[in-house]
Amino acid sequence: MTEKKMTIGVLTSGGDAPGMNSAIRAVVRTALANNMDVIGVMNGYEGLLNGEFKPMGARDVGGILQRGGTVLQTSRSKRFQEPTGQRDAIRKMNEAGIDALIVIGGEGSMNGANALSKQGVKVIGIPGSIDNDIWGTNIAIGTDTAMNTIMDAVDKLRDTASSHQRAFLVETMGRNSGYLAMMAGIICGAEMVLIPEYPVEQQEVAVAVEDAYRRGKTHAIIINAEGSGLRTTDLAAMIDQMDLGFKTRMTILGHIQRGGSPTAYDRLLASRMGVKAVEALIEGTHGVMTGLKGKGVDFVSLNDVITNKRKVNMEYYHMVKVLAR
Ligand code: F6P
Repeated sequence: MTEKKMTIGVLTSGGDAPGMNSAIRAVVRTALANNMDVIGVMNGYEGLLNGEFKPMGARDVGGILQRGGTVLQTSRSKRFQEPTGQRDAIRKMNEAGIDALIVIGGEGSMNGANALSKQGVKVIGIPGSIDNDIWGTNIAIGTDTAMNTIMDAVDKLRDTASSHQRAFLVETMGRNSGYLAMMAGIICGAEMVLIPEYPVEQQEVAVAVEDAYRRGKTHAIIINAEGSGLRTTDLAAMIDQMDLGFKTRMTILGHIQRGGSPTAYDRLLASRMGVKAVEALIEGTHGVMTGLKGKGVDFVSLNDVITNKRKVNMEYYHMVKVLAR
């Protein structure tokens, strides 16, 4: 008697991130190469609840490696957070013959994956989020592309800022994480970064701007993470009211940071993690997330992922100040 082929479901959940498509492609093609079936779950956990399933063949993931967003679409499902929603989702999975699920998404998505795992579902998580706030991996899929998008935008803003001797306030995404803002501070030569993990008074921003002017700088870039606790509009108004030398302008980068073709780094990371996730299921491992540690992609338990909080490395924060001299 031949053994029944395993059927894998794959979904993307939460905020989309560039590289999610590369990961979907890697999951589908690795599974097919190992004689497994793949069902794409549309629209994240919401689609799992509703039974929005679509069989995936090799051609269904053709031409998506380089595309931003997610071809499976995504959602933030409130219903799935409830035990009844999770039970409905498991029932739909069983009805469709899905034996295991691969979830590509951020912190909240890993929470959902862990909840399913606790109820006996074979789940593998793949970290995908521009915020890079997920514990257990050096970097998540999408973060590198977002950083490149920010870098490109700030480089352009610096051109006009220095032509007009202006201080520019640039707001980055990241929710409760300052990772994007802090790294952008280094790669874009910011005067100061404002991050949720290290709150400062509004006055300190004024001091930094004035100090940059006194040191003869032609511009000052301040990068404000959206969760820093200080509003970009308030900061801009404050700098305008005070006579600090520089006049000011502000730019909120917003969802531009989430889109675009994934970088080479993100395509590679997503492909490696997609392959590794399927390999985990083949060897009987589940209840884990793929994580980049050192140079290799390894597994971390989903329970550890959701119970630990990722910390920012304050060395980078201080580096911003030193390099801004
Ligand atoms: O988690 C990704 C992220 O882009 C955050 O940086 C941001 O706070 C949030 O999603 C925005 O969510 P939405 O797309 O629902 O507005």
